[in-house]
Parts: sequence; structure tokens; C-alpha cells
Amino acid sequence: MDVQLLFFRNFGVENMSFIRIKNLVHQFHMKDANGEITEIYNAIDDVSMQIEEGQLIAILGRNGSGKSTLARHLNNLLFPDEGAIWIDDIKIRQEDEENVWNNRKKIGMVFQNPDNQIIGTTVEEDTAFGPENIGLESERIKKLVSDALTAVNMEHKKNISPNHLSGGQKQKVAVAGILALKPKCIVLDEATSMLDPHSRKELLKLVMELNKKEKITIIMITHNMEEVTSADKIFVMNKGKLLSQGSSSEIFNNSEIIKEAGLEIPEIMELAIKMHNKNPEFKTGLFTVMEFANEFERVYNDKRKQE
Ligand SMILES: Nc1ncnc2c1ncn2[C@@H]1O[C@H](COP(=O)(O)OP(=O)(O)O)[C@@H](O)[C@H]1O
Ligand SMILES: [Mg+2]
Repeated sequence: MDVQLLFFRNFGVENMSFIRIKNLVHQFHMKDANGEITEIYNAIDDVSMQIEEGQLIAILGRNGSGKSTLARHLNNLLFPDEGAIWIDDIKIRQEDEENVWNNRKKIGMVFQNPDNQIIGTTVEEDTAFGPENIGLESERIKKLVSDALTAVNMEHKKNISPNHLSGGQKQKVAVAGILALKPKCIVLDEATSMLDPHSRKELLKLVMELNKKEKITIIMITHNMEEVTSADKIFVMNKGKLLSQGSSSEIFNNSEIIKEAGLEIPEIMELAIKMHNKNPEFKTGLFTVMEFANEFERVYNDKRKQE
């Protein structure tokens, strides 16, 4: 293959990502009491990233690092001050309503607070809100709603008022509302952070299933490292910039990045890293005592067999 063709080929592949963000800048204007701008603050500061369809993505970063601002760009709730975003190779254009609307249908958002996302008086009505809003006919809506509620295992609660649901169940209904619009991607912005540990696990399990079975691209935004061990790729944000990107083991084994990003390493993981430093065969990225114990046994038994 000649060099030129090779170049175009690679160039083409690189530009075919599901989501492509290029040199994105988002500014907030700080104003004094008279409304005069006192400071222009780059909440997103020259960020570029690419996300492929079907990936399970994590965006990690401490509070204020710019994660939610970035998420709002994906869902067209905010628009770039500089740079650009392409979804399915189509550039987001604020001035083009149809373009914005089509992108919103592709990427659904689940926010932090379960109580701020419920609109309907019953679970079913709430889930139907999206499809009704885009004017689908009622039989189609019924089917979409029923499928979505089944997917999140909330079909049996369809006639219940969302007020009677737990936080975790409300988040599942929020996911159902998105699923009813047949999205390509779901962005969860700290969606588990107000949930109890059990509901948190349930919601994580649900989104992982949606990723595996329905091939929906998932973008998990969190400051909690424990939630993103199974991500295909992790982006680390710090002070509005993309500090690092890589596989979970690349990121989790990079203690400098973790420190700089101000992320808290779970104790078991720290211990696993210490073991790994003594014996490279010992895996890192372990999060539970059980995982650690299993790995310890594996390495120990392997060693014994060799002796
Ligand atoms: N509406 C806003 N007006 C002014 N500053 C904002 C606004 N929203 C966010 N910011 C600032 O932008 C930075 C990034 O915020 P955000 O994207 O919410 O971070 P994260 O989600 O990582 O906690 C923070 O310093 C925050 O204070
Ligand atoms: Mg946030």
C-alpha cells in the first residue's frame, strides 16, 4: 500500500469515532454585583477525546474538574466556546435545531439527584414522557415504555407513583425514560452518588448489562474509582483539562496521575499495588478483600507449583 493511501486510511479511521471532541473550551463568566465580568474561567480547557461506539467509558476527576460541564456538552445542554464535537461524524451545531435535537435523542443523561428527574405521576407516565414528546403514536409508545421498564426491571411498578420509589428505583426509571428513546449512549453524571451501596451496585450492574447486551455506549462520570474498574477506557480530568487516558489498569497503576487528579485510592487497591511492586505477577486493580485474597492465593499457589 502506498504511503499516501495508508495516511488517508489511518486518517479516515481516526475520524470515524462515535464521539469526537476536539479542542473543546467552555468558559464561565464571573460577574460582580454590577454585572461586570470580573473573570473568565475555563471550566473545560482545550479537551480532545474520542469515544467508540459500544464502549464502557469512565470519566474520573475530583469535584470541580469539569466533568459535568463536559457531560452537558455531549447532551447539547451547553455548546462550545471554542473547539467542536462530532457525534456519528456529524458536527454539533447550536444554530441548527434539528441537528441538536437528533443528537439529544442519541445521548441520554442521568443526573445525580434522583428527585430532580421525575416528571410523571406514575412510573409508566414518566417513562413515556420522552417518546410522547417526539410525537410517536400511542401503540409504539406503549411498546417502547414496556420494553424499557422491563430492561430496568421496573415493569411491575409501572402504575406506582415515583414518589413511592427508593432513590435507586428512581434512577432506574430515569434510565428507562432514556431507553424508551432508543439512545446510542447513556451518560451517567455521578448518578450513583446519592444512592445506598446496594442500589449503587444494582444501577452499576444495570448499565453494564445495557452495555453488554444492548451495545449501548456508557459514559460513567464519577470521582469514585471503585465504580469504574470494568471500564474499557478511562479519561481523567483535572482543572478542566484532560490529564490522562488509558485502560483501567494503565490508569490505576499510575499513582502519579491518581495523586495529581486528587483521586482517592481504595485501601485494598493500594495494598495490591504494593504487592505488585514486590512481585509484578501480582495483579493490581483489585477492589475487594475477596479479590485480593483470591489473587494472593493464585500467586502463592503458582509459586508453590513451580518450586
Ligand atoms: N453555571 C456555572 N457558572 C459558573 N461556574 C460554574 C458553573 N458550573 C460550573 N462552574 C465551575 O466550573 C468548574 C467545573 O465544574 P463542573 O463541570 O461542575 O465540575 P465537576 O462536575 O467535575 O465537579 C467548577 O470550578 C465550577 O465551579
Ligand atoms: Mg459534576
